[in-house]
Amino acid sequence: MNASLPRPLTLSTDGPLRGRVRVPGDKSISHRALMFGGLAVGETRIEGLLEGEDVLATAAAMRAMGCTIERTGSGEWSVHGVGVGSLLQPESALDMGNSGTSTRLLMGLVASHPIVATFTGDASLSRRPMARVIEPLSLMGADFTAAPGNRLPLTLRGLSPAIPIEYTLPVASAQVKSAVLLAGLNTPGITRVIEPVATRDHSERMLAGFGAEITIEDTPQGRSIAVRGEATLHPQHIVVPGDPSSAAFWMVAATIVPGSDIVIENVGMNPTRAGIVAALSAMGADIARENERDVGGEPVADLHVRNAPLKGIEVPADLTPSMIDEYPALFVAAAFAEGRTVARGAHELRVKESDRIAAMAAALTACGVGIEEYEDGLAITGSGGEPIAGGATIASLIDHRIAMSMAIASLHARGRIEVDDGRPIATSYPDFTDTAEILGARADWSER
Ligand code: S3P
Repeated sequence: MNASLPRPLTLSTDGPLRGRVRVPGDKSISHRALMFGGLAVGETRIEGLLEGEDVLATAAAMRAMGCTIERTGSGEWSVHGVGVGSLLQPESALDMGNSGTSTRLLMGLVASHPIVATFTGDASLSRRPMARVIEPLSLMGADFTAAPGNRLPLTLRGLSPAIPIEYTLPVASAQVKSAVLLAGLNTPGITRVIEPVATRDHSERMLAGFGAEITIEDTPQGRSIAVRGEATLHPQHIVVPGDPSSAAFWMVAATIVPGSDIVIENVGMNPTRAGIVAALSAMGADIARENERDVGGEPVADLHVRNAPLKGIEVPADLTPSMIDEYPALFVAAAFAEGRTVARGAHELRVKESDRIAAMAAALTACGVGIEEYEDGLAITGSGGEPIAGGATIASLIDHRIAMSMAIASLHARGRIEVDDGRPIATSYPDFTDTAEILGARADWSER
């Protein structure tokens, strides 16, 4: 196999999906476990780490800044941190690959250390906006030289001691919130972020677990999160729950393929991430939470999903932050619903690994689905449970979630849907096609 050539992928199935599967570790939590472990002095052990390319980019960057990070078993990792304030000057550029989370959170870490780091990324990441982190981190004293449009490649000169700020998020972004809080860890005094719209709170939960002094209050302006700087983090044993964003593909697959009945085990159900379950349930999906429990400070459940008829809905805009990565999968579900689904208020989709509104509009239109595109979302007229036409090759645009969503759509299509390149799936879900096969589907990879 030549790794530099696209690898088209098609999923298909002759019958219902059946079986019990586990999804890989949560991507957001995996990044944070490596970073925070790298800031604690002593050994942090991690179980269930997502071993996808994005998380490996974080591991490589933390190593380049002095941490010792080793894989001790499948999903099992050991991190010997250097302590807050003691990250070392990396010798070469930090290659972030496709990973926006690595880039933005690590920019936060570097911003309050006396080091200079250059961040580079692939073509998708190099198109993504970085002004949203450059702005608050500049207020804290960091200095940036970025490519035109405030994009990668970008060089950041950190300042130590940095200046504590109080910052109200202009976009609902957990990455920006986390970048500022991480910069605050090595900044004297209190660094505060106010989020008018609540976003995923894994940083806050895990920082508290590592012993940082972090306080959260609901105020009329929004959630106010304050971290006391010059913090000491204590090493932890982290168990990473399964990623709801990866589980979403199987929730949709089992819902749309007639006769399906599956269990997805160990799925993180943090309320700031579980919007997709609420949205699919409102459409009529049959998703039961079983065996609800707590894993490493995060709520987790096994999801029992059975095929069910869907009806179009207006997706409540207040679900947007808690399902921002799941819109491509939701759009696929909507393509099989009775009637029209309208999902708006999701501008941010335009600046993800691809422009996910345009990418999914093009992909579903090519498969015969009726689409109206808005600046902030899509309206989709579904098939009422019948197979969609399919018979198209989809541009996945270096976007793992476009690739996986359209691979799932192919499970209930009259004509084969080929994803032009399945390689980006490895950024978040290296075992995606293995899981498809456990559930009874076929995965055809072809070489170009
Ligand atoms: C993430 C936050 C989200 C999400 C991304 C992971 C995180 O991005 O889309 O996949 O781990 O903090 P934004 O915070 O930019 O919305």
